[in-house]
Amino acid sequence: MLLGIDVGTGGTRAILIDRAGVVLASHSAEHAPIRSDHIGWAEQDPEDWWRAAQEAIAGVLRAATTAGHTAAVRAVGLTGQMHGCVMLDASGEVLRPALIWCDQRTQPQCDWLTSTIGYERLIELTANPALPNFTLTKLLWVREHQPEIFARIAHVLCPKDFVRLRLTGEYAMDLQEASGTLLLDVVHRRWSTEMAERTGIPLGWLPRLFEGPEICARISQTGAAATGLQAGTPVAAGAGDQGAGAIGMGILTPGSVSATIGTSGVVFAATAQPTLDPKGRLHTFCHAAPGIWHVMGVTNGAGLSLRYLRDTFFASRSYDEMTAPAASIPPGSDGLLWAPYLFGERTPHLDPNARAAFVGITASTTAAHYVRAVLEGVAFSLQDTFTLFAELGIPVESLRLGGGGARSPLWRQIQADVYGSAVQILEAEEGGAFGAALLAGAGVGAWPSVAAACQAAVRPAQTIQPLHAAAMAQAYARYRKLYPALRQV
Ligand code: XUL
Repeated sequence: MLLGIDVGTGGTRAILIDRAGVVLASHSAEHAPIRSDHIGWAEQDPEDWWRAAQEAIAGVLRAATTAGHTAAVRAVGLTGQMHGCVMLDASGEVLRPALIWCDQRTQPQCDWLTSTIGYERLIELTANPALPNFTLTKLLWVREHQPEIFARIAHVLCPKDFVRLRLTGEYAMDLQEASGTLLLDVVHRRWSTEMAERTGIPLGWLPRLFEGPEICARISQTGAAATGLQAGTPVAAGAGDQGAGAIGMGILTPGSVSATIGTSGVVFAATAQPTLDPKGRLHTFCHAAPGIWHVMGVTNGAGLSLRYLRDTFFASRSYDEMTAPAASIPPGSDGLLWAPYLFGERTPHLDPNARAAFVGITASTTAAHYVRAVLEGVAFSLQDTFTLFAELGIPVESLRLGGGGARSPLWRQIQADVYGSAVQILEAEEGGAFGAALLAGAGVGAWPSVAAACQAAVRPAQTIQPLHAAAMAQAYARYRKLYPALRQV
């Protein structure tokens, strides 16, 4: 059996799979809610992730035993929410809560980076512009506002790598995750000495780097005692949630693209070489498989939009109850539009101050219209990335859906209509945890390569054809006018 662990935003999920890619058992444990002391701030306690990881791992091992699966765990792969800045002292103790991926407080640090290093040089060095989501900007905020904490930092990790530290005692990070720190030379797949020197971040704080399937550590005695895993079990480097999720969906060759709606929404394309957007609207990262890269466009508030709508106006209903009436609203929601900028926006606007809006309300607008407009608005926002792909000549030959947007039949039809393309859903819809388990399997030779792992374990379940592409293209043209207008307000 192969174990995949996904340290997400809402919770940690552990799954066990076999060599055919069959999910044998799974177990999730929720995290404490995100702490937000000011608008735009988002913090979580790394020790809470470790608590949830112990619960999830012990739970999945129990579930497997109950189901009669007695094989040993051959290897462990890790994935998780990206970009979060975990600051540790010399003995590996947490110095303060982590500033996580959706924290938007660091625009001043981004402006400082851009003016100190220069916009073009930043993209040459890291393949990406300075965005508040990226780890380095969070570190710089702590230097400016909490110098007494900054002075004690000895190690910096991302969320899943902190869980790895607790499981194995090793400081390690994979290249796909490291690409989202703004400290990696993405083109040459190594830490950027120039970025570290020019920003005053000691290279010694950064962990050793590995390709996704590389075995970088083993479960320690302490890790074993805390989880029920066997000491000595190999641990692969893994990847950030988007990298591992793409492996789990078989997105490895140019032309294969995925659209995943989790809390955030991501359109992801594999590339043979680093493909740069000179305007920095797409992220250019190392992929989780050795020697290849990827580009992705990110909507901060995708699944988050639907959760916000439910928590605010439909609190007692399930997602299914809330979305069912929206199926009878016509495509285009009778003119109601949703701009999903609840957490500012990355692609394509790069504007942490963007704000969400419903536009086009009339006396005939019903609750179901709002729900459909949110589902459509999130898909329009992902369509913005396809528009950029077309502009930059990034090929889209096949399109697979992941996350909550793939589980809802209405949302997947809306996506096929908005993207104007057939979309596929897959048999195992397990997100990053599935990809992390595949990387671990490739690392211990269960398959000869990551590509072979995907071939053996990733199977399409259904193809959905677009039915209302023309109506949605018209609605998208109206949506494109929203952000420039809202910006004026
Ligand atoms: C990717 C990103 C999100 C987070 C949380 O750039 O910020 O996918 O990893 O899911």
